Parts: sequence; C-alpha cells; structure tokens
Amino acid sequence: MTVPARPSQPKRIVLAFGTRPEATKMAPVYAAIQRQPGLTPLILSTGQQRQMLDEALAVFGLTPDEDLNVMTERQTLAELTGRIVPQAGRKLREMGADMVLVHGDTTTSFCVALSAFYEGIPVGHVEAGLRSGNMQEPFPEEANRRLTGVLSTLDFAPTPGSQANLRREGKAAEGIFVTGQTAVDAVREVAGRVSLRPEWQAKLDAGQRLLTVTMHRRENLPVMAEMAEALADVARAHPDTHFVYPVHLNPAVQEAVRPALGQLPNFELTEPLDYAQMAPLMAASTLLATDSGGLQEEGAALGVPVAVLRNVTERPEGVEAGVLTLAGNDPEQMRAVLNGLLDDEEGLARMRAARNPYGDGQASGRIAQAIAWFFGLAERPADWS
Ligand code: UD1
Repeated sequence: MTVPARPSQPKRIVLAFGTRPEATKMAPVYAAIQRQPGLTPLILSTGQQRQMLDEALAVFGLTPDEDLNVMTERQTLAELTGRIVPQAGRKLREMGADMVLVHGDTTTSFCVALSAFYEGIPVGHVEAGLRSGNMQEPFPEEANRRLTGVLSTLDFAPTPGSQANLRREGKAAEGIFVTGQTAVDAVREVAGRVSLRPEWQAKLDAGQRLLTVTMHRRENLPVMAEMAEALADVARAHPDTHFVYPVHLNPAVQEAVRPALGQLPNFELTEPLDYAQMAPLMAASTLLATDSGGLQEEGAALGVPVAVLRNVTERPEGVEAGVLTLAGNDPEQMRAVLNGLLDDEEGLARMRAARNPYGDGQASGRIAQAIAWFFGLAERPADWS
C-alpha cells in the first residue's frame, strides 16, 4: 500500500452519507477524526433521505459542508444511482478530498465509493464485511456492501467475523482493521445524555412494558401489510405491553402498515424519531422487533433482546451470543415467535444477559488512528482483532 506524499498538510477526510442510520453511525467517526492530529473531517451529504438525515445530524450538532440534495418522492434505485455518481465525483474533487469514508450498505455508499474510485481518491469503508450470503435479503444492501468492498482501500470491520468475510473474498489483510461497531459508540454517547419521553416513562411507572417496532426493508414491502396484521394480533394478546412504532417516511411503508395498526389502544404509530428519542426508547424496551440492521447492534449494546423480522441476518454474532433471535418475515412464524418471547420472562432475562459482541464503544478512535497510519502520520496501530 503506498503512502501518499504531502504529510505536512492536514488530510481532508470526507465522510459521505445520505441516510439516517449512516449519519448516526458516522457522527462519532467525525468527532474522532477531528481529534486526530493531521486529519480534518468534512461532510458530503447526498440527501438521499432529506428529512430523516437532517434530524439525525441535528442530534449530533453536525451540518454537511456540501449537499447534493438528490432525494425525490418514490425514487427508484436506478434514478438515485444516476444522480449520485456524477455529482459526488465532482464535489469530491472540489472539496480536495484525500480520502472518502462511506458507511455500510446504502445506495449512497456504493455510488460515492464508485465516484471516488473514478476520481482516484482512496475509499475507507466503515462497517465493512457484513454478509448475509443472500443477494435478495437484504435487497439491495447485500449487493451494495459487496460492491463497496471491491472498491475500498481500507476496511473497518466491526467484528472478526466481518474481517473473515473480507479475507475470504480475497482482500489483503493489511487494509483490514477490526475496530468494533461505531453504533455502540453512538448509542452509548446519546443514551447517556438524554431521557425517556415522559409519556413512555408513565407507561413504565404504571407497570406496562414497552416494545419498539421498526419495519421498512424493501424485500419486506410485498408482505408488510400481513406482517403488520401479525403485529396487531400480538398487541391484542398483550394488553400489558405498549408498542411504539416510528413509521419510516417511505409512503409505501406508511400505506402498508397504517390500516392494521392505526386503531389499537396499545399500539402507537409515531413519526420517525430522532436518535435522542430513539436511544432511550430502545434502552427502556423489553424487546425490539425490527427488520433494521442497526437496531440489532443497538439492542446488543444496550442489553435489550431483539426479534429480527427477516429470514437471514448479516449480524450472526448477536444470534450466537443469544441477544438476537430470527423471527423471519412469515406472519404465522412472527406471531408465534413474538408471542413466545413476550410470555417467557426467563427467556427474555437470558437474552438480556448475553454478551455484546459488537465492541467496546471505542471503534471511532481506532478508525481515526488507522487513517492516520495510512497517511504516514502515525505508527500502524496494534492489531485490535
Ligand atoms: C435506505 C437504505 C437502507 C436503510 C434505510 C434507512 C438503500 C438502498 N437503502 O432505504 O439500507 O436501512 O435507508 O432509512 O440505500 N423518504 C422521505 N423522507 C425521508 C426519507 C425517505 O420522504 O427523509 C421517502 C422518499 O419518498 C423515498 C423513500 O422514502 O423515496 C425511500 O427512501 P430511500 O432512502 O430511497 O430507501 P429506504 O427504503 O429508506
């Protein structure tokens, strides 16, 4: 790996993202790069998710240095790709990027990595190496993360398992760093400085349990109305539990879930919640039922059991540790798994006691150190794996 010249100039590290979860998981990386001598962080937003991204950034006091503002109503993946790739390349050049950091598996991540590659700018991939092994689940995220991995120079793998996936695909060991998950850094930081909304605290004080739901995945959209019916049945069977579901702004999601869930006394549908509200809600929940990726790690980090509403997960470490259980997206199976969990206090207690396999909350500092090494500004860090 060649170390670029000009070591005396601060290196411009552009963090590029466009969706809410990327902003949340990149915020602690931004702060760590700011603290690292010789590096300067900048933010390039694609604006893939206009409102949700802006809310997420506000929680961390961040504003993008540049914004492509690409979102349109009911955007297709191809349209999104066609807008991001040429614009991102131009902006990265104007920003004088020495390196671009992308996150995870979104269309923004893949498109910006491709633009950077065309511009000859090295790419660092945060949350690298997650694999479900199934290109249709999650769709299109499994493809996005694999394609990003082909283009990246540095890979920040959250776990030894994700490192092994990258090695299996032929990536050189020298560019891979096992850092832990930056989601753990983010959730600990935020959960430590905010408190639960008073109306939810009142439910707990009255002896009710809280259950957080999220569902938004593209591959679940064809069955989402039936999944919502199954959730409604579980809520009817558990009047002692208050369900909170912040519904994604995607109109297709809204249309699928509102008919079944809009009228139940113990099922609250809310607007998307910012992280300052979401983190304490998750921490106070008895169970998370979700098809999201990030909530699997956040549950593990907070010691909150997670029922994963998908058939496969790229986060097997949490299943092995015992804090995650796969409930699938088949309504019958979902109903059985969720009812079973809510009726089994001992089982829930065992899940709560599972160890967190996603890191110690120091992932972002390790990423900043590894970038400094790449630019010849620091020794190669000790192996964290
Ligand atoms: C994207 C990511 C997914 C991530 C999710 C988090 C891809 C392929 N998928 O999926 O990995 O888990 O974001 O949210 O990148 N919308 C708004 N306002 C917003 C956000 C979305 O109106 O602030 C609407 C728009 O109509 C948009 C639609 O939601 O067309 C879908 O959003 P999009 O970002 O394209 O895809 P997601 O399914 O959210």
